[in-house]
Amino acid sequence: MTDRELIGKAAEAMERSYSPYSRFPVGAAIECDDGAVFTGCNIENSALGVTMCAEACAVACAVSAGNRKFVRIAIIARSGDYCYPCGSCRQMLHEFSPDVEILCARGDGRYVSYRLPAFLPMPFASFN
Ligand code: THU
Repeated sequence: MTDRELIGKAAEAMERSYSPYSRFPVGAAIECDDGAVFTGCNIENSALGVTMCAEACAVACAVSAGNRKFVRIAIIARSGDYCYPCGSCRQMLHEFSPDVEILCARGDGRYVSYRLPAFLPMPFASFN
């Protein structure tokens, strides 16, 4: 799958966003090492802290389907700037794929690509 195709999957998921409070729909699509793709959208709640990010939703779908090795994740919003993952989602991705490639797209479809260490240089990874 090309970068553009993966971003297209994220854009489709963004259309299913439930974001009446922020009015900021986000979509994500994760490609796994076996080629499987899982998508997610942000899901908000009137108790705002209960909100789930699009990336977290996609990770939950992938992991609950038995896929823990992520090759790429595309993230998109209808924003003027590239949609970067929040700190919590960076840590969540690190748990499963510390070197995952992250495609950050914006409303006009342009995107930039970095690997997770660029976003999360000193992850919490020990539990001793
Ligand atoms: N959001 C995401 O879905 N992913 C992120 O990485 C950052 C923020 C969502 C949460 C909320 O529904 C909306 O964007 C505004 O913060």
